[in-house]
Amino acid sequence: MEIFTDICDFRLYIKQVRQHNKSIGFVPTMGALHQGHLELVKKSIQQNDVTVCSIFVNPTQFNNPNDLENYPRDNKTDLSLLKANNCDVVFLPSNAIMYKKNDILSLNFGYLENIMEGKFRPGHFKGVGLIVIKLFNLACPNRAYFGTKDLQQLTIVKKLTKELLYDIEIIPVQTIREPDGLAMSSRNGLLSKEERIQALDLYKALNTAKKQLIGGESVTSVLKYVQQFFTTESKLELEYFEIVNTTDLMKINEIPTSKQVSLCIAGQLGKVRLIDNMSLL
Ligand code: PAF
Repeated sequence: MEIFTDICDFRLYIKQVRQHNKSIGFVPTMGALHQGHLELVKKSIQQNDVTVCSIFVNPTQFNNPNDLENYPRDNKTDLSLLKANNCDVVFLPSNAIMYKKNDILSLNFGYLENIMEGKFRPGHFKGVGLIVIKLFNLACPNRAYFGTKDLQQLTIVKKLTKELLYDIEIIPVQTIREPDGLAMSSRNGLLSKEERIQALDLYKALNTAKKQLIGGESVTSVLKYVQQFFTTESKLELEYFEIVNTTDLMKINEIPTSKQVSLCIAGQLGKVRLIDNMSLL
């Protein structure tokens, strides 16, 4: 497995891969890898000649400095996991390489950056967009892999890929869950034993809400049920629960016949913020 920390070396390597007409699959990560990331790597290996993974805790997507400081980092374990899972290349840049003091570029994703995650993490998607563009420009992938757990991120990445005319196929990969249903996340490791049990309320609420909607209950009554569940029965502090159209993430009042609907949820448990979503289909 090749590891690059320098932009010039990485660019040269990518140039050579492209010159040999080999396809590149790209898995951008912030490290603290878990089975969810490894599924992205697996999928990329299946579909491409060369799989490149980046590990970079991107400071511009953290609106909360404590969150950035506490974000789990373990390059050694990450690198051995990637090697064991047959990743070909890792790009591991420093902050100083990815951002310069006088950088001024700022992106705007319109309504998409002000709803759900964007509402609770102002500026988050501007940072995600910026780093994804930089990484796409360096890795020059044919395909890039993103987990559906971060549905809003996936939607924004699809949008920027389309609007910036990148010739990159964005491949969504399904959320991987722990045996009890908790969505895998790098932040799960920060939960105390008690919080880990309480975190399951996100999954329970999504499951129940999905069953209710499939059973014909109205969107309004399901929204009410979930709010009530977190107010009365859970220790988790609910930030939002929304029922949205899966394609544009707009709130819906009724379930369309296409059933292209996603249930999106986020909440705080002590110092740890967790998100999850479930598709109605
Ligand atoms: O999903 C993540 O881990 C990050 O948001 C990403 C896409 C690697 C950008 O920093």
